[in-house]
Amino acid sequence: MSTVTTPANPAAEIADAMRALEARYGTPWSAPLPAWNDTLDTLLAHRSVRNYADRPLPEGTLETLIAAAQSASTSSNLQTWSVIAIENPERRARLAELAGGQSHVRAAPLFLVWLADLSRLEAAGARSGASVEGLHYMETLVVGMIDAALAAQNAVVALESLGMSAVYIGGIRNQPEQVAAELGLPPRVLPVFGLCVGYPDETRPADVKPRLPQEVVLHREQYDAPSQAAAIAQYDEVMGGFQTAQGLSAAGWTVRSLARWRSRESLHGRDRLRDALSALGFELR
Ligand SMILES: Cc1cc2nc3c(=O)[nH]c(=O)nc-3n(C[C@H](O)[C@H](O)[C@H](O)COP(=O)(O)O)c2cc1C
Repeated sequence: MSTVTTPANPAAEIADAMRALEARYGTPWSAPLPAWNDTLDTLLAHRSVRNYADRPLPEGTLETLIAAAQSASTSSNLQTWSVIAIENPERRARLAELAGGQSHVRAAPLFLVWLADLSRLEAAGARSGASVEGLHYMETLVVGMIDAALAAQNAVVALESLGMSAVYIGGIRNQPEQVAAELGLPPRVLPVFGLCVGYPDETRPADVKPRLPQEVVLHREQYDAPSQAAAIAQYDEVMGGFQTAQGLSAAGWTVRSLARWRSRESLHGRDRLRDALSALGFELR
């Protein structure tokens, strides 16, 4: 059981916390800090890693990560998710191509595909002769996707706390039917996203990517749209600096993000997700 301990050097701990918060936003932190601990350190230090060391994961890692994933809350304890662990290099290479030619899927020693899984309870219904009409509604798929995301993120926090790194792969939804065939998925199971897992290549470190200022995402009592534009403009500056430091053009956040929604083509095949869901057996009533 975790406990709140008195830091050996409170001043040093507060300085570390401030550094972590300032890296997360790329701006000075001004709110009071009521407490800090290793969990917050791990969360604030998150960065997606796409370059991995040639180092195997210790035995038992997968099982530990799944225990962390299964510790997440799950809607009504339905546990409408599953995960497929892929270590086979040929299969990882095929999935890398299906996900848009993402080389890190091939390079990571472990690739996890997180699934919204409505098949398990459907099969239980068939075994017991019970109606599962609720399965066919969009709400039920949303439950499965939320469950999968909460489980995966618990695994990410766990692996990062152990010195490993990861990157999510939404590209797994570019061609969901082909991914389903590759993984032998039964009907009514959707690959929601992949996750590359490995030890980071310390010679090619990733940086903490600053996030939107809190006033953009945190609304108090009611949604406040008018005050967002100025804070987003400030964030565009911060992201421009981050992109420059990464050797990218300093486009900022707004321009880059809008490019992702510019057209149907910019969805990289995911524009036909409704058809793919239908092919995978989801009625979405
Ligand atoms: C659901 C999801 C899907 C993602 N898909 C991809 C992907 O296909 N390829 C990739 O390189 N990064 C992917 N990412 C990583 C994001 O680009 C990354 O989290 C974001 O830029 C913030 O950077 P950070 O994680 O380093 O803080 C994905 C992240 C999430 C949460």
